[in-house]
Amino acid sequence: MSGQRTVIVGNWKMHLTIGETSLYIEQLEKQVKVPSHVEVVLAPTNLALQSASLQLQHHRKFKLAAQNCFWRDFGPYTGEVSAHMLRGLVQYVILGHSERRHVFAEIDKDIRLKVQAAVRNQIKPILCVGETAQERADGDTGFVIHDQVSAGLANITSEEISKVIIAYEPVWSIGTGDSASPSVVSEAMALIRRQVRDLFGKQAAQDIRLLYGGSVDDANAATYLGLPDVDGLLVGGASLKPAVFANIVAAAKPKES
Ligand code: PGA
Repeated sequence: MSGQRTVIVGNWKMHLTIGETSLYIEQLEKQVKVPSHVEVVLAPTNLALQSASLQLQHHRKFKLAAQNCFWRDFGPYTGEVSAHMLRGLVQYVILGHSERRHVFAEIDKDIRLKVQAAVRNQIKPILCVGETAQERADGDTGFVIHDQVSAGLANITSEEISKVIIAYEPVWSIGTGDSASPSVVSEAMALIRRQVRDLFGKQAAQDIRLLYGGSVDDANAATYLGLPDVDGLLVGGASLKPAVFANIVAAAKPKES
């Protein structure tokens, strides 16, 4: 466990328009008290980032994340948004999400370059890793996580690793209601922390924040947050309703470091 602040990220995916984002923020502000040991991060559509960032300027209660970015700073890349363009607008960017990997065929090389581009542009990457149901059934979970972590971090130096967050999101648990059991989560977290230690040393392994994501809701959030190796949550579907997301944030109790 990192001893850093617990991070609760709401990944809205392709939901909520600009207007709905503004309304959501207004409602969440009323319903949530963000304690000093918690960081609340919202990841709306790119389109809403500018207006959300202006709306949040008044109180800075929540941080913003992009759901993806491209690794080149600018150039002839139709449809892409670069980390360079997101700089100053968001504090975090979600990278290597399973939907990016599986629906948009992103490969480890893309993700490695994106992680590097985020850090270069002073945005903290939330690197997502996780196995499919088939990979788990084949007994390959450990290898898959290992490969995704080492590929994602391959261009990161030991000075930069403190900027990175890793989210363990088993693909079979995303949007399915089939949340991973605490022992599955603990095992994956231990594996990732061990790997970070091997790559970057003991301090980095202690400090890095590891999130769990996959069918998190307000009924199971406290269980995951109570696991010693879990430093936060990446929440999809259950983050779309301010009242439910507020309950998830409230489940983050201070941890002893
Ligand atoms: P879910 O999504 O909470 O809806 O399972 C999690 C995610 O994709 O980050």
